[in-house]
Formats: sequence, C-alpha cells, structure tokens
Amino acid sequence: MDQPPASAARLRVLSGIQPTGRFHWGNYFGAIRQYIELQDAGDAFYFIADLHALTTVRDPERLRGFVRDAALDLLALGLDPERATLFVQSDVPEVTELTWLLMTVAPMGLLERCHAYKDKKARGLPADTGLFTYPVLMAADILAYDADVVPVGEDQVQHIEVCRDLAGTFNHLYGEVFRLPKPRLVEGGAKVPGTDGQKMSKSYENTIEVFEDLAAQKKKIMRITTDSRPMEDPKDPESDHLYQLYALLAAEPDVAAMAALYRQGGFGYGQVKKALVEATATYFAQARQRRAELAADPQVIDTVLAAGAERARAAAGAVLDRARQACGLGRRAVGARA
Ligand code: ADP
Ligand code: TRP
Repeated sequence: MDQPPASAARLRVLSGIQPTGRFHWGNYFGAIRQYIELQDAGDAFYFIADLHALTTVRDPERLRGFVRDAALDLLALGLDPERATLFVQSDVPEVTELTWLLMTVAPMGLLERCHAYKDKKARGLPADTGLFTYPVLMAADILAYDADVVPVGEDQVQHIEVCRDLAGTFNHLYGEVFRLPKPRLVEGGAKVPGTDGQKMSKSYENTIEVFEDLAAQKKKIMRITTDSRPMEDPKDPESDHLYQLYALLAAEPDVAAMAALYRQGGFGYGQVKKALVEATATYFAQARQRRAELAADPQVIDTVLAAGAERARAAAGAVLDRARQACGLGRRAVGARA
C-alpha cells in the first residue's frame, strides 16, 4: 500500500473559508491576510467551503453568489493561483466519500463536545446532522490533501484536534494512511472589533465588508459607537475600538500620530472616523481595482477554479484510494500485498 509521503520537502499548507456572506474586516485581518501570506511557505491549498456553508445558507442563488464573490475577493486580495491552489470544496467529491470512511470511526461523544453543535443545542435550537458531523467533513478536507499545517483562527483549533483524533484512530486500525496535520494559529489574528465594539461578526450585524462601496462603508464608520467623555480628556488609544480599527488600516506614522493625539486629548471622534474612512479607501484601493478587473471577465474565475479543482482532485484521489484500500474497499486480489 502507498504510504503517506514522509515529510515532503515542501510543507503542505491548507485552509478553508466558508462562503456564508461577504468577507468583512474581521475575516480579512483575522484570517485571509495570513492565509495569503502563507502561500509562499509551501504548497498551499485554499478552498471555499460551500458544503459547510450549506448548514447555514439555504438559498441556492445566494450560495452560488457567495462562492463566486469569495473567489473574486480572495484573488483580488492577493491569493495567486500560480502559487496556491484555489478551489471549491464541492468540486472534489473524493472528500465526501472520505467523510463517510471517517464517520465510521468518529465517536458520538467526540462530536457532541464540538462547539458549533454544542452551542446550538445549549441555546435550544434544532440542529441537523450536517452541523453535528461538520467536524468530520472538515477532517476529510484536511486529510484528503496530506496537509501538514492548517492555518486557522482560535475557534477552529478544536476541529483540528478532532481531525487528528480521527486520523489517529483510522491509522491505528488500518495502517499509516493519513498524515497528521498541525493547526497554525494565525498571527496578528487578534480579535477585530465591530462597529459596536464587540467582536466583528456577521451574527452581531456589526461588520464592515471589505469590498462594499465606499459610501456605504463611510455611513457605517460614521456610526461606530464611541464613549461620551469630554473632548479635552486624554484617552488610552489601545482600549478604544475606533482606534484599534484605525491602527489596522492606516500607515504606521499616521497610527503613531493618532495614538499621540489620543494621549494628549482635545480631539473629536468624528475626526478619527474621517481619518478611518480615508485610511480604508487607501488600504484597499489596489484590491478594489483588481477586483473590478477580475469581475469584468467572468471567465477568469471559472478558469482558475476549474484548474484548482483538477489539481485538488488529483491530490485527494490518491489519498482516498489509500484509505479505501486500507479499510477493505476496492477489489484487490485476496492475499495480494502492496
Ligand atoms: P462570522 O463570525 O462573521 O460568521 P466566520 O466565523 O465565518 O465569521 O469567520 C471565518 C474566520 O474569520 C474565523 O475562523 C476567524 O479566523 C476569522 N474572523 C472572523 N471574525 C473575526 C474577528 N472579528 N476578528 C478576528 N478574526 C475573525
Ligand atoms: N470550518 C472552517 C471555518 O468555519 C472552514 C473550514 C472547512 C476549514 N474545512 C476546513 C478550515 C478545513 C480549515 C481546514 O472557518
């Protein structure tokens, strides 16, 4: 039997991102920016997790739109299809078959402890088996590509542990089929605050989307909540969410000047908001332009995703074959040895 390639010269990096809405600053600064930086750390595989999104997006046209937008956004933000493989999860049916194989070694108790399902249940909401087995699909996503490192946010680390658990059990039963991946907590992925100061998240309706038009962005920025301390008071910049956003988007000397202004006092939050509007326009100007160019030629996305799917299927097919043979599927002659 083919063994998983022992530590290949190049690190295999893999991550997925769900197309459940348009990407916001939290997604970008918390995850996407680091994924894109890692495309040079090894062989990178990045995919748009539309099968996972099916557990929340129930409108087919919206889902298709989100997938396309996700691909456009990622390319515009710097993902380079020459250096990384970009594909759509559901274009690789090998992964769903692998999910079943892993499901046969996935204890109920392990999945019951996973937070997506547990949280929903704790809130008394109905959960479907798609949500319950979500971590098994995620494990298949990772194992199918012999991933070494999986860059993720803090919230996904538990799922990588589940993946390692399932791979370990499968390997224990059937031989060394899967390579065990490691999570890589994204650096600089600290919590990005939303317009209300809580963590920016679609579920809190406090997001600013990366590519929404500048007028809409400006409106949201002007409505960012602020405290009512007198203008003259000196303020601690680090503890203010408006400043935290500015610090992500503005050029370094401007950030330092803003911090000094906070400490000195005698400024209005309106002034900071205006500066933030300008900073975001500049920060994403190039990406906006690239996105407009890409969107003007719909063929580009199709070509990139088709090429990505082909490469991904070749990788996943080899792993699936290993797994099938190992557990007794497929018709190898009785007594034949690899
Ligand atoms: P949402 O909370 O809006 O539904 P997702 O859960 O789809 O966002 O986020 C995808 C990834 O983006 C997360 O795994 C996390 O790494 C990152 N992320 C999302 N929101 C933030 C945030 N406010 N700060 C930092 N990272 C974030
Ligand atoms: N569950 C991840 C999220 O919500 C997305 C995802 C799906 C993923 N499959 C993956 C991330 C495999 C890393 C590896 O963010």
